[in-house]
Amino acid sequence: MLKSFFIALSRNVRIKKIILEWKPARLASRRFIAGETLEQAVDAVLRLNEQGINATIDQLGENTIDPEGAAQSTLDVIHIIDAILKKNLRANVSVKLSQIGLNLDDESCRKNLSQILDHAKTAGVFVRIDMEGSDLTEKTFSIYRSMIHAGFSNVGIVLQSYLYRTENDIEELNKWQGRVRLCKGAYKEPVSLAFPKKADVDANFDVLASMLLAAARSPDAPHLSEDGRFPPIPALATHDVKRIDFAKGLINKFDMPHEVVEFQMLYGIRRDLQLQIVTEGYPMRVYVPFGTQWYPYFMRRLAERPANIWFFITSFLRK
Ligand code: FDA
Repeated sequence: MLKSFFIALSRNVRIKKIILEWKPARLASRRFIAGETLEQAVDAVLRLNEQGINATIDQLGENTIDPEGAAQSTLDVIHIIDAILKKNLRANVSVKLSQIGLNLDDESCRKNLSQILDHAKTAGVFVRIDMEGSDLTEKTFSIYRSMIHAGFSNVGIVLQSYLYRTENDIEELNKWQGRVRLCKGAYKEPVSLAFPKKADVDANFDVLASMLLAAARSPDAPHLSEDGRFPPIPALATHDVKRIDFAKGLINKFDMPHEVVEFQMLYGIRRDLQLQIVTEGYPMRVYVPFGTQWYPYFMRRLAERPANIWFFITSFLRK
């Protein structure tokens, strides 16, 4: 109920305008967002790298509605790749396809993504395609597949355990050692497409994580690269200790090296757990979002946990 309310708010243009200009909201958003500039994101990544944590940098933005905006977002991603090289960051980059034109037409999105992947390939940087709402799942998956078929090996995708289709998607990806970030899913989806109960989403996460770990057991499966930029096949993106423990249990059971998997978490969430995972010797990557378009991302984070709404209200009252 609360989740639906905040997800609906994340799409409301009028509320977005009010919240973006409201100083307490901007300050509260900083718990989850590294800042509004690339420099602030780079500083956040340097701090994480010092703690043994790799990063993926995301310039916030989605649902670009004109070709000029999509072209600008493409250039913005290229600037992030340049900053990763210049500052020698243990980081890669994440991108939403609706940011670079997916809602305009598939062809311009494909062109913009190829431009990013070409640049990233020369730079030796990996690009992760975030997954958005189910209206874009098939299109996102098929553009990702076309990039793999075009010969790009520096690209991976995100899949969501709340969708019924994900098991089939992983079966296909495992045939060509596709690199997958597995998450539970952050959007509001219909019962016809997604498990409505959290317990089922969690159970499916374990099933899908097992499938990805099985692919990672192959002797030629890619490991985390030495520079921290290329992930292994499974990137398990969750703050849920039970899901993490389940995956660790499998890794131990099959006596797999820790580098066959990486755990991923969001900037500002469960920092204690992020450090614990590093101490245990597992690769850990944090998603570092930045930029002025933080509104929908912030609303999705509030939607995930009622305690965040309380945090938001108390930070407002403290002003
Ligand atoms: P769950 O929601 O069960 O939370 C488990 C515990 O984590 C909670 O009890 C709490 O302690 C902590 N927690 C979780 N969310 C929190 C929050 N917002 N604030 C404070 N504590 C919180 N989704 C998507 O649809 N497409 C995508 O591309 C991505 N990409 C992505 C990248 C990375 C690195 C991560 C970690 C997550 C995503 N997600 C995503 C979001 C994901 O789908 C999911 O909504 C969140 O990770 C929350 O789910 P958990 O797996 O953490 O479990």
